[in-house]
Amino acid sequence: MSSIKSKLTEIFSQAFTECGYDGKLGVIVESQRPDLGQFQCNGALAAAKSAKKNPREIADSIIEKLEENEMLEELSIAGPGFINIIVKDDWIAKHLNAITDDPQLGCAKTLQPDTIAIDFGSPNVAKPMHVGHLRSAIIGDALQRLFSFLGHTVISDNHVGDWGTQMGMLICELKKREPKLPYFDPSFRGPYPDKPPLSLNDLEEMYPVASKRCNDDEQLMAEAVAVTDELQQGRNGYIALWKHFVNLSLKTLKQDYDSLGIRFDHWLGESFYADRMSKIVNRLREKGYAQESEGALIINVTEENDTKEIPPVMLVKSSGGFLYATSDIATIDYRIEKFKANKILYVVDKRQGLHFEQVFRAVRKTGIVKPDIVLEHIGFGTVNGPDGKPYKTREGGVMRLSDLIELVTQKAEERMEEAGIAQDLSKEENLDTARKVGIAALKFADLMNHRTSDYVFDLDRFSRFEGKTGPYLLYTAVRIKSILRKAEEEDVTGGEIISPTGPERTLMLLLSQLPDALYNTEEGYAPSYMCDFAYNLAQEFNRFYKECHILREKDKKRQGSWLELANLCLKEFELLLDLLGIQIPERM
Ligand code: ARG
Repeated sequence: MSSIKSKLTEIFSQAFTECGYDGKLGVIVESQRPDLGQFQCNGALAAAKSAKKNPREIADSIIEKLEENEMLEELSIAGPGFINIIVKDDWIAKHLNAITDDPQLGCAKTLQPDTIAIDFGSPNVAKPMHVGHLRSAIIGDALQRLFSFLGHTVISDNHVGDWGTQMGMLICELKKREPKLPYFDPSFRGPYPDKPPLSLNDLEEMYPVASKRCNDDEQLMAEAVAVTDELQQGRNGYIALWKHFVNLSLKTLKQDYDSLGIRFDHWLGESFYADRMSKIVNRLREKGYAQESEGALIINVTEENDTKEIPPVMLVKSSGGFLYATSDIATIDYRIEKFKANKILYVVDKRQGLHFEQVFRAVRKTGIVKPDIVLEHIGFGTVNGPDGKPYKTREGGVMRLSDLIELVTQKAEERMEEAGIAQDLSKEENLDTARKVGIAALKFADLMNHRTSDYVFDLDRFSRFEGKTGPYLLYTAVRIKSILRKAEEEDVTGGEIISPTGPERTLMLLLSQLPDALYNTEEGYAPSYMCDFAYNLAQEFNRFYKECHILREKDKKRQGSWLELANLCLKEFELLLDLLGIQIPERM
């Protein structure tokens, strides 16, 4: 089963072929003039151009071929040769009946399943996670859910940054504060203490101090870099200390992702690839792909037709340490070998575009990645504050995720009280609802913007129960749940969906278009298509319900059909919101 649009595309393509034109011209798009049709086909114009004929004549011949089609109510020509399409009411009703019983709700699984490794989340340990990392997690999670639903094998990996210079900075800072700790004594033979020498709070307090100090003082920075190199080369005391830093930090990170309902198959940080990095570097050096340049080891990745300069990839610093790109190259090699991935996706800030371009070129040039493997950087825009600059807290720092969740929950509680929503629930259920509403507000506000756009973080707007917001969607879904409950109490049961006679027609047409929203998201790696659809569905359902009084309807057949439409609408909401990583409360 697939969408009405793709079914129409199928029959139109056939008509074009039969008339001697390219079948691709049969593509169907949504109507630009809903007053004239539900869908339209613009292929006659392109066909006319290449055949040097009148487009209206071509449109006529296409229409003639389709006259008898069981799916079509009416075809008409508008303007220079657009074909407007109206589908038979009966056909839509039949289609919806089939969808209701289908666990995929009409969104057929792919015929060519990929094995997709998806890299998202990926914060740096010991540094506070910022809203950019949150965005990666929210978008990445929606994509992993969708890909699995559509039948792909998905392996998600939180590629945490745990092997970079921030580690050296922290080690130096701690050494300054507590030089007597055994980790700094080269003659210490171990074993090192199991208990961490500091708390998570200390660690979080220490990082900004260390980072500022190093950035202000070249000498200190050089020291931090040297210490990082020693760590990477395996100095025992540093490794032991580093493990404490990582463990402390991972514990909160895991809680944070848990509270957002985001899960990963793996948490293989950069450090996991330490051995692989050395091996690959040696191999690339031996094979002549990597060259020495001013003491460093680089791969040249310029290509003949470059219009901008693409700097070489640096594999090893002159001081001997590995870099961000080195770990990414080793990671790609691993994901292909161990995960058998044929697609590797990176949901990472679009400002890292050059990095990925360099890395992708390097792995292709060196044969680490064969041409049939897809590598894609799924870049996203910045989350800005009201001043248009990247979002910071009032104190100017980055917001801790746990504080953010607290904040959105509080905001949701306020809004619920204002709107008189969920006020008669128990305290516990009310809080649980507020948490769901808050997280829905946060996630939906992020996902509804096309991933490549920047947006302004405005909690007040995100948390409203009106307009294009997560809370509005939840409210609508819960409303349907309560209608269905009431129907059950009154012994009203759903029946077969029958041909529309009035206001339910637009809802029915929309309900049939769910697959397009999913496929568009899949194709563009853009959950905003699912958000747009969910919002349209909510609006359309509310319009329908205002005019079609399900519970008061006298005609039993019609009543059963309307109730079934409400039921299908809820199923579509449940699917869409689940794919967006948003939970629907039972009541509000
Ligand atoms: N840790 C990096 C950062 O915070 C993001 C890592 C993205 N993934 C990757 N494989 N490079 O900027």
